[in-house]
Amino acid sequence: MDSEDDFGPVMTDVTTEWDSKLSERSLTMKPSFIREILKFTQMPDVISFAGGLPAPELFPIREFEEACAHVLRNDGQTALQYSPTEGFLPLKEALAEKMNKYEIACEPNNILLTNGSQQALDLLGRVFIDPGDVIVTGAPTYIGALQAFKVYRPRIIGVPVDDEGMQVDVLEGILKQETPKFIYVLPNFHNPMGVTITLERRIKLIKLAAKYGIPIIEDDPYGELRFEGEDIAPIYALHKQNVIYLSTFSKILAPGIRLGWVVGPEGVIRKIVLAKQANDLHTGTFVQMITHDIMKRGILRAHSKELKKVYGERRHIMTCSMDEFFPEGVKWTKPAGGLFMWAITPEHISTMKLIDRAVEKKVAFVPGSVFYPDDTGDNTMRLNFSNAQPDMIREGIKRLGSALAEAMG
Ligand SMILES: Cc1ncc(COP(=O)(O)O)c(C=O)c1O
Repeated sequence: MDSEDDFGPVMTDVTTEWDSKLSERSLTMKPSFIREILKFTQMPDVISFAGGLPAPELFPIREFEEACAHVLRNDGQTALQYSPTEGFLPLKEALAEKMNKYEIACEPNNILLTNGSQQALDLLGRVFIDPGDVIVTGAPTYIGALQAFKVYRPRIIGVPVDDEGMQVDVLEGILKQETPKFIYVLPNFHNPMGVTITLERRIKLIKLAAKYGIPIIEDDPYGELRFEGEDIAPIYALHKQNVIYLSTFSKILAPGIRLGWVVGPEGVIRKIVLAKQANDLHTGTFVQMITHDIMKRGILRAHSKELKKVYGERRHIMTCSMDEFFPEGVKWTKPAGGLFMWAITPEHISTMKLIDRAVEKKVAFVPGSVFYPDDTGDNTMRLNFSNAQPDMIREGIKRLGSALAEAMG
């Protein structure tokens, strides 16, 4: 008998109790409520305003096909090889040029490519947060940031957000008493609220943060999707030494490629690079080269123009439908860009309860409380307007209006 035939399962009575081996950190991880809701929304007859999904029919599939073929034909060996953690240099150069036009003065050394902005949020948590550290976010804020930061066990203080963004006067009160590691803000078309921080607030915010020596993380996936009004200077442009800026190709090209970038002071970027090295060595070379090819051919500009046109129309249809079908007493934001609207019901309505009634009526949204660091905001909800077709938006808002009317009596 040779040794290969000898090989087989080892019989013992001892099996590992995996739960007893889990780290304290992993015990605090919870599934995202949005992922739970997405289960319902995959049912074919449910109209979903729950996801944060771009319109798939607009994905530039043919352009991707051409870019893939071009990259493989011309530089296949590089594309399929390992590459530096910092990112593919020609893409960093193209991004630096793009950022400079967007008032974000930077060099390739200030840029790191990541697997989506979500990875950047995790790396920032890893680099900056020790257990028990205070950090400040909006209340509400992006749920994925809460999920990423919570792994590092900070104490999160939420600052209320209104139509003009984070309430800076409330922030000042907090900074008088606490020394957060950073302030995390969403400058444009906030997820979940759809609101944009005014220039006046940006200036106040940056002055306040500088006064107390607190860095700002500016997370801006939606800035290029403005369909109304004028662009506002990024917070980074107001004080680049104090700000780390994040953006992503997810909403301007396609989320499936998982490609985002961080801009910041060189020393900070070097630290994040070390964290990324341990995490995944580098972002996919192939995907970076394809994206670079797409950028070089000027496709992004034409594509974002189309996105803005379509999303602007869908936002308009959603607000008109709300005017028509939502009962008196429900209010909502009117975003000038991005993907999300935010509705506020009378205080006694729990949207966490309303979701069951809504799903029965074949429409879904995200209850707003999941976006608050302290689970408040139970009378709010997030509605996505980019993903559903116009006739579905009207029908979905009609169904939601009827669920709301029943709940409100
Ligand atoms: C504010 C914000 N930050 C980061 C992300 C993560 O984006 P990515 O797909 O680049 O990981 C999202 C995604 O919806 C977001 O809304």
